[in-house]
Amino acid sequence: HRLPIIAIDGPAGAGKSTVTRQVADRLGLTYLDTGAMYRALAWLILDRHIDPQDEPTVAELTSGAEIELIPRLAPQLTGVKVNGQDVSDAIRTPAVTQLVSTIAAQGAVRAKLLKLQRKYGDQGGIVAEGRDIGTQVFPNAELKIFLTASVQERARRRLKDFQAQGNQAVDLAQLEADIAQRDHLDSTRAIAPLQKAVDAVEIVTDNLTIAEVIEIIIDLYKKIQ
Ligand code: C5P
Repeated sequence: HRLPIIAIDGPAGAGKSTVTRQVADRLGLTYLDTGAMYRALAWLILDRHIDPQDEPTVAELTSGAEIELIPRLAPQLTGVKVNGQDVSDAIRTPAVTQLVSTIAAQGAVRAKLLKLQRKYGDQGGIVAEGRDIGTQVFPNAELKIFLTASVQERARRRLKDFQAQGNQAVDLAQLEADIAQRDHLDSTRAIAPLQKAVDAVEIVTDNLTIAEVIEIIIDLYKKIQ
């Protein structure tokens, strides 16, 4: 028998990473950031100057790539290596963020990462965040959360993050457009689109603090124990 799994899905900028990390810490479970894996492959494709639309070449590069999650301290929540190279910071650049949904729509990419994610989760004891955790990766998860907020609120939060990092040259309207574009690509792709699992609990976070969201999830988890 495996340990429990909590699946946390939702669109970009809903606060998934912070919430998932803290829920895992509070419950003594392991945090699994599946977005970091897709970002790692997107980084590799950029690094090799491969055309992201060239699916056979992307597939070939993907099949030979070794992706490994590594421990990492704040402020970066997840560490990841590609073919032995630490790309934990490099996967957070705007160039990677812009490219990742194109890569993540491709069958060879999803098949490889699905297998890897299930390997990380096969003993349970994890809190996993992504887009298809409750629907595809761990459909038998004990608790499924769909975390969302309006595009406007998610863009405002991203703007605050950028400003906190000393980056003032970011435009709110542009952030909204980027988030809406990524939502669209992620929820309309043919394979494993972003979707609320039928048995997921939806939490709309527009008017909630991070602490409040975490309490809601911990309470839900205690109820199923
Ligand atoms: O969560 P994060 O912003 O790091 O995810 C980056 C991208 O990776 C998403 O926009 C999506 O295209 C892809 N992704 C996915 N399935 C997951 C996790 C992430 O398709 N389970």
